[in-house]
Amino acid sequence: MKGIVFTTFLELVEEKWGLDMVDSIIDESELESGGAYTAVGTYDHQEAVALVTALSTKTGIEVSGLLIAFGEHLFGVLIAGHPEFAVGVEHPLDFLEGVERYIHVEVKKLYPDAELPKFECDRKTDDHLVMYYSSGRHLEDLCEGLIKGSLTYFKREATIEREALDDGREKFSIQL
Ligand code: HEM
Repeated sequence: MKGIVFTTFLELVEEKWGLDMVDSIIDESELESGGAYTAVGTYDHQEAVALVTALSTKTGIEVSGLLIAFGEHLFGVLIAGHPEFAVGVEHPLDFLEGVERYIHVEVKKLYPDAELPKFECDRKTDDHLVMYYSSGRHLEDLCEGLIKGSLTYFKREATIEREALDDGREKFSIQL
């Protein structure tokens, strides 16, 4: 997993709970990297799981809630780094359909070692999109947060329904 995910996560933890919490979850997680991340490096995604689990234990907040909140924040950081991906896009569901078709394709060119999920999109109506997420990393909660972050970015409200399918995919139904 790319270092930007780790650095953004630890910055958010510092902002919300302070540097002592950052030190304490790094200690707790017994990380191979030692917790020294650079934005351009690549690290084992299990380290992220360990850090979030440690934060959950310390704060008493469920892992899923932490990942959703982190995803919302992460979207703001990603789009700030690549504002060009939203240029000319007016509709949040057009933007979300573009994640698989365009954004992650470009991300892969920029960072060939990025590990990206797969999305299949089914645009039901102008205001209703169904996205099927699949990834060996099973970051469904992070994905929900990223979807929410993009809706906030476009200043639109939506109902998001989720369903875990038997084949391992997660179905996200997004209705504006
Ligand atoms: C400006 C827009 C975006 C950029 C630049 C971007 C870029 C990235 C990058 C750099 C990663 C990390 C890859 C790695 O760690 O190796 C990532 C992962 C991911 N992205 Fe995006 N992304 C964007 C928008 C979105 C949106 C809107 C969604 C949700 C629909 C999304 C879903 C995900 C998920 C779930 C992952 C985690 C990896 C996995 O599940 O296997 N991304 N993205």
